Amino acid sequence: MAMDQGGPRSQEENVVASARAHFERTLVQVRGAVVGSVAAMEHPSSGDAANYGEVFLRDNVPVMVHLLLEGRFAIVRHFLDVSLALQSRSDQTRGIFPTSFLEQDSVLIADYGQRSIGRISSVDASLWWPVLCWLYVRRSGDQDFALTQEVQDGLQRLLDLVLHPSFEGTPVLFVPDCAFMIDRPMDVWGAPLEVEVLLFGCLRSCCRLLELAQGNRFSERRDQSLARARRWVRDLRAYLLKNYWVTSKTVQVLRRRPTEQYGDDQHVNAFNVQAQVVPAWLQEWLENRGGYLIGNMRTGRPDFRFYSLGNSLACLFGLITAPQQRALFRLVLHNRDHLIAKMPMRICHPPLDDEEWKEKTGSDPKNWTWCYHNGGHWPCLLWYLGAAILLHERQHPGSDGALMEQMREFLEECYASQLRQLPRQRWAEYFDGPTGTWVGQQARTYQTWTIVGFLLLHHLLRIQPSDAELFAIDPFDPQTRGRRTRLQEE
Ligand code: GLC
Repeated sequence: MAMDQGGPRSQEENVVASARAHFERTLVQVRGAVVGSVAAMEHPSSGDAANYGEVFLRDNVPVMVHLLLEGRFAIVRHFLDVSLALQSRSDQTRGIFPTSFLEQDSVLIADYGQRSIGRISSVDASLWWPVLCWLYVRRSGDQDFALTQEVQDGLQRLLDLVLHPSFEGTPVLFVPDCAFMIDRPMDVWGAPLEVEVLLFGCLRSCCRLLELAQGNRFSERRDQSLARARRWVRDLRAYLLKNYWVTSKTVQVLRRRPTEQYGDDQHVNAFNVQAQVVPAWLQEWLENRGGYLIGNMRTGRPDFRFYSLGNSLACLFGLITAPQQRALFRLVLHNRDHLIAKMPMRICHPPLDDEEWKEKTGSDPKNWTWCYHNGGHWPCLLWYLGAAILLHERQHPGSDGALMEQMREFLEECYASQLRQLPRQRWAEYFDGPTGTWVGQQARTYQTWTIVGFLLLHHLLRIQPSDAELFAIDPFDPQTRGRRTRLQEE
């Protein structure tokens, strides 16, 4: 799309200006200070208090990234402070951050799951907090914040919650169904990709924040946590790469693996996966050179569905290697008709069909086949993939130039399609149907992360592409490119 010729550019500018204005209206104040954005506005013109929804931590991830890029650091610090003050101190949930909070009679009421539909658990919010905290400290240079007793104690509480012995004895976090963005039943219990990738980003961010404090004052407890977190990161990465990464080659091996293995030294099929569970659609989906992280690994029952957010975050956090990232990009291009279709991008593919929907979602009407979390399209997901592509381009210039050029074009087209559609569709929350054409049956409008996700992609494509580096958890240093990364040393 030729943006630099008169007309189209001004149309783009208009859309960006109105998105910015909508975004400003999503910011909520409590006692005179902004505490974050509401999830959706619905009717931005009415200006009435009934429009105030809750402040969801996960929905505020792109909000805070956007504010960081705009240099509005005080708001981000306050948001981190407010959510830290709400971190649970009670016996059974100690260390958990709330999924969301709202103000009632000047008091902040937090939801750790006890008020939510279905009483689900708040896992991703807890894992996002250290990531956001580290991004804030790095971008603003405010190391003093990281060194405060409140932050160091909060990190310790979270690490105590996460790094504990478990019945599985594996480095993954075991969670019930609905513990992350997919917060209605979708058969995503166990070790779902998004949670595990977030755990990886969370632990690496915790390490950076604890290391900052190391120079300050000796603390044996902190040093022990740091050592455990480092080991956990290394083991978690090895575990995910071994059990979740698939390509055409690994599937062929998997289909011929022996089953019923017992004992210490037989590791090829530790989860006793039968060849019959490998779905037929994988063949065409993977073609020759594609690869991705599957959705979950459980005894005998891997989840081969593709989850867009978990895979994009795996690139951003550097969980998968550079060649794996390019295999993932190839897979996205190859399956563009599914993953993008009319609205970038689908949350999870393929959807559960009628029978599976009944059995696995408990007939949840929102998650009906091709709807909402079950194959719906969520515009807020595109910028994560966009940032992953742009970050890759910066970290590995010149590698597979032809592919990366195609990815650039792809991203421009996706951006152009959001630019065209989203204002008309009133910045809807999600889209339904096999091509993602219809506005979701229960979609809210003027959804904050739809608006801000678009603004972020606009920023990365048009204003400052180098800001994609904000996400690399280790500071980006061109001098060390190609050498061993800190991650490999952890
Ligand atoms: C829905 C989504 C969830 C989101 C919330 C607020 O519950 O499934 O991911 O955080 O709405 O937008």
